[in-house]
Amino acid sequence: MKDSQSTMYEHSEVKVRLLNLYIQKYLNILSRAAGIEKVHLYDLFCGEGIYENGGEGSPIIFLKAIKDIYYRNQAGGQKLIQVDCVFNDLETWKTEKVKSIVESKKLHYPFFGDLRFLNVDYAEAVPGIVNQISKSKKSKAFVFIDLYGYKDVRASQIRSILQTKKAEVLLFLPTQFMFRFERKGIPTALQAFIEDLVPKDKWPNSPTGIDFIENLKSAFRNYLGDDFFVDTFIISRDVNQYFCLFFFTSHIYGFDKMLEAKWEIDSEQGRGWTYKNPDAPTLFSPSKADKVNKLEIFFLSYLKEPRSNGEIYQATLHQGFRPTHAVEVLKGLAAQNKIIVTSNDGQKPRKGSYYINYGEYCDRPKRISIQLT
Ligand SMILES: C[S@@+](CC[C@H](N)C(=O)[O-])C[C@H]1O[C@@H](n2cnc3c(N)ncnc32)[C@H](O)[C@@H]1O
Repeated sequence: MKDSQSTMYEHSEVKVRLLNLYIQKYLNILSRAAGIEKVHLYDLFCGEGIYENGGEGSPIIFLKAIKDIYYRNQAGGQKLIQVDCVFNDLETWKTEKVKSIVESKKLHYPFFGDLRFLNVDYAEAVPGIVNQISKSKKSKAFVFIDLYGYKDVRASQIRSILQTKKAEVLLFLPTQFMFRFERKGIPTALQAFIEDLVPKDKWPNSPTGIDFIENLKSAFRNYLGDDFFVDTFIISRDVNQYFCLFFFTSHIYGFDKMLEAKWEIDSEQGRGWTYKNPDAPTLFSPSKADKVNKLEIFFLSYLKEPRSNGEIYQATLHQGFRPTHAVEVLKGLAAQNKIIVTSNDGQKPRKGSYYINYGEYCDRPKRISIQLT
């Protein structure tokens, strides 16, 4: 067995940290959402739960978050949502190990929801999962796909899960292997994966690992269309060695929260997490100013036409930025007299208020318009 498969490395810890932050936010939001009574959680490559060095894997992270939210909601008199979990791994010994950890650490009680273990090939499980998500009423689903390689994953599987309009998908891809292969020539397994997204002759060249991830992200965005949001969280271990979490959703607020978790982990770059090696040269180290500049550059073209606060909220998220970043940039542009704000409801907009958040997006998406002067 490869060492990386039995020991949890720092990059995996960052992966589970993001997973942990996100799942907590996700369950918290759903506990407060009217009309949601159940969450279906699928960890399709669940692994063994706890690694030889004590590192906790995804099933443990999920179960702890579920337990936490249950007792917190109970104490706070909040609605209690059921979370039905499916933990799948091709290897029976791994799910057996997870089962025994769950028992010994008392991580689960039936009143949290169902707990099922499966040992099937992920590809075979997908159609049944799509069916279950589609049929289930008053529910949402979260699907975690965390494979060693990439040969089993298909963009069409992800699309079919997203098309239920009730699911969010987190996909961890060991993109450093893909990139290495791409430079040498695309191997058959990768060809099938990429051809699902883009015709082979249209696949752009990727001079660096980051370019490769950007190309893959754009390809996913084009493939899935405007109804879905896609973003990445890059974990770089070494120069040009990248792992990447891809996040997919049809729900704009879910996306907003994912970006919040991502920026929380790396508030400086927001682009991902860099392996802590101060001596290693990195290919990118954009400062926060550089990042926010990127949004400013976007606004300087996007706001040539008047745009409503709702449109700006949506466009900001599509760019991978948080509403707070948009407000920061807009305040900067206003200070330089580069934008004008027009009220659309007859009320004078408050100075410095741009109404760019999910609440306004739902209730008053056309409250104001902003345009370059
Ligand atoms: C990267 S590990 C999962 C790690 C786990 N999510 C965690 O956080 O600890 C990938 C797992 O997928 C399992 N696996 C490999 N091919 C599979 C397939 N086709 N279907 C389901 N599981 C598979 C492996 O046994 C392995 O445990």
